[in-house]
Formats: sequence, structure tokens, C-alpha cells
Amino acid sequence: MRPRRFLPAGPLKGRIRVPGDKSISHRSIMLGALAVGETRVTGLLEGEDVLATAAAMRAMGASVERLESGEWVINGVGVGALLQPGAPLDMGNSGTSTRLLMGLIASHPITATFTGDASLSKRPMGRVIDPLSDMGAIFEASEGGRLPLILKGASPAVPITYRLPVASAQVKSAILLAGLNTPGITTVIEPVPTRDHSERMLRGFGAELTVETDAEGARVISIRGEAELKPQTIEVPGDPSSAAFFIVAALVVPGSEVLIENVGLNPTRAGIVEVLRLMGGSIEEVNPREVGGEPVADLLVRHSALKGIDVDPAIVPSMVDEFPALFVAASLAEGVTTTTGLDELRVKESDRISVMAAALTAAGAAVRETEDGLVITGTGGQPLPGSQGAIATHLDHRIAMSMAIAGIASRSGVEVDDTRPIATSFPVFEAMLDELAA
Ligand code: S3P
Repeated sequence: MRPRRFLPAGPLKGRIRVPGDKSISHRSIMLGALAVGETRVTGLLEGEDVLATAAAMRAMGASVERLESGEWVINGVGVGALLQPGAPLDMGNSGTSTRLLMGLIASHPITATFTGDASLSKRPMGRVIDPLSDMGAIFEASEGGRLPLILKGASPAVPITYRLPVASAQVKSAILLAGLNTPGITTVIEPVPTRDHSERMLRGFGAELTVETDAEGARVISIRGEAELKPQTIEVPGDPSSAAFFIVAALVVPGSEVLIENVGLNPTRAGIVEVLRLMGGSIEEVNPREVGGEPVADLLVRHSALKGIDVDPAIVPSMVDEFPALFVAASLAEGVTTTTGLDELRVKESDRISVMAAALTAAGAAVRETEDGLVITGTGGQPLPGSQGAIATHLDHRIAMSMAIAGIASRSGVEVDDTRPIATSFPVFEAMLDELAA
């Protein structure tokens, strides 16, 4: 464990550039590894989760290398040509690697063992096991449909039409990736839209993919299998989920003004910006442009007097990873913030509803946990008192980073029990925070 007490600091001043988007980074490596020829990626997130994906694709025959310039070069094997890995695939802490790779392997003649850390081994995999079994894959999972598990891919796999029972981009993507090497058309029906990076990137690599809206307003996404992917040059935009910690920090620490460059603002990801603006946050979009087929802007964020609001549950999928950061903002706002419809947060790297309730309470915030959310009464801009003992982060990077921000906005600081998980998604987080606060 690597504990750290995050002490009151600020104002935060300066400009930062957050690392590449985690979701897009995973997908660049996976699709690059399936295209025949050389894919080049700049701005790839070099976090542990993405490195787990890179290691797995290497184990299945692709060449995935980092040049000294920081650019990544991937030489793919072609759809249908992934090789049998010689050892279990260690997914570390990464649910995205696990679920998307299960999809890829499900339609290849490969048997693979998936393992992960204590957090990942608690997370439900039934949500991908069910549709991938319908496509012909065979699973031997640990109790409750968890890791470690063995997956025997189907060859050929059977195309399915599947209606998502949970709003999950990981489940959607697993099925679409399985569809890549499945004869015929594989269809996913998505009643609630989730992040669409897979759809954008599959099209970019030349897959035949259509998106329609049915009579009930659901998205119907179809992919034609036995696809041939063409290698691409990809620039990964900055991760809005990483930017969120610094957006909140700049909003809550008095006197702050921070420019966060190159933030991905895909509408399926940008819910946090909308909600923080509704709370009164000053977040200005500067120089809007397109990077790698995704909308991007620099965000100028200034300290603001935030007000509590009722967060519309319809916005949850577009900010599903940002609630821990939002809870910190709510703890320092004036009045009550109510969140509902957050059931999915209970099955992330930790149960983010109860873990954040305990963490913020320990830091002196007024928090009430409900079945599917938190009700938070903010301090009205006064710093949080701070924590006595260490906050338990349960191997969850986003809990650690959120409570670090709570610490700099506190009177006596907040101690986080373990900062190591931060490296899964944002290895330079602490260095950036220290530099902005200096
Ligand atoms: C991700 C999808 C989300 C998100 C995760 C990354 C992705 O999970 O929480 O961090 O890259 O597809 P769900 O789609 O399961 O909600």
C-alpha cells in the first residue's frame, strides 16, 4: 500500500494536458491488432489498464510497440487470425480489457484463461457471458460468473440480435467485437445510449457498421462480420474522465483558474460538464475542434460558487465514471444534491456509492446513502473538515483521485490509504496536482 495525506492547497493555477482517453486507447490497440498492416497511435494512455490490453494482444500474435517518440506502432494479425495465448491473460484491474477481449476471443478458435486483481475478481461477467454464449462461446467461470474464468471461443460463431439489459458500453462493445469475426450480421439494440467509441472506431477501420433508431427510440447497431480492417493513424484525445478531477478541483478551490487542454467532449461522455454547469460552475470551451474523429476542446475552469441540484438520472450513462468526482463537488456546494439511478456504480472497480459515502463522511461531509444514489448536503463553499484516519479506496483509482481533491479542499487534509491504483488510468495525476498547487 502507498498511503498519502492530501493537504489543503491552492489556488490552482496554470495549464495542463490530461493523458489520452482510456476507452479510446483500449480500442485503438484491439482494432490495430486486428487490422493487417501498421496502425500508428499518438496520445495513447500509458496506464496499467491499457498496458494489460497491449500485453494480451501481444500474447495473441500482434506486435504492439512504443517508439521513443511516445508514438505506438501496432502490427495486426487480421480478423480471424488471433493466436492461442500461451499463458493466462492477466487483466489486472481492468474491466474494459476483460469484457472487450472476451468479445474478441469469443469468435476465434482460441481457449483463454482470464485472471485479475481482487477488485476485478468481484465484478460481474455474466452480462457478457450471456450474449457471448448465445453466439456459441463456452465459459467456465468462477462462482457468480466471475474471474478467474476460461473462455473457449466458437468457430464459426453464430450472429445474434441482442437487446442490452443494462446500459453498458462494455457489453455492447464485446458483442460488436465478437461480431467482427462472425459470419453475417450481428446486432445490438441499445435502449439507453452509452459511449459510442467502438462504433466510431470500427467504422474508421473500415468495418461495415450501421446505426439506426427504432420506433421506441432505441439505437440499433449492426455489424457485418468476417470484416477486413484497414490500419489507421489515430490521435487519442484527452480523457474527459481524467479531466473531471481537475475540473472539480478548479471549481472548488478558491482563486483557481486552470486551462485543461485537449479534452474529449464526445456527447456520450460529457455529462459531467453539463451537470457542473447546472450547479453554477464556470467551464468555458476554448478552441473547439475534432481530434481522431472525436469532438475536443480546451476547458477554462474558474473557481465558482456551486449550488446543489437534483441530477437527472437520464444523464447517468454519459458521466457514469464521473460520479465520485461529482460527489466531491456536491459536498462543497451550497444546498442539497440528489443523485438517483446509479445502480451501475455498485459494480465498478468498487461499490462507488457506499465507498464514496463512507469516504466523504470520514472527511466531514454530510452524506446519506440511498438504494441507488447519494444525497449530499454541501458546506456552501467552506472547506471540508478533513479526515482523521485513512480513507479506504478498495483498489479503486477514481476513489483515490476524488478523495485527493477532497483533501486539497479541506481544512486538515484527507489521507488516502493507497495511491497505487491511480496508475491504472492516470499515472501522472499526483505530479500534475502537485504542480498546479505549487
Ligand atoms: C467503458 C465503459 C463503462 C465505463 C468504463 C469504460 C468502456 O463501463 O465505466 O470505465 O470503455 O467501454 P460500462 O459500459 O460497463 O458502464
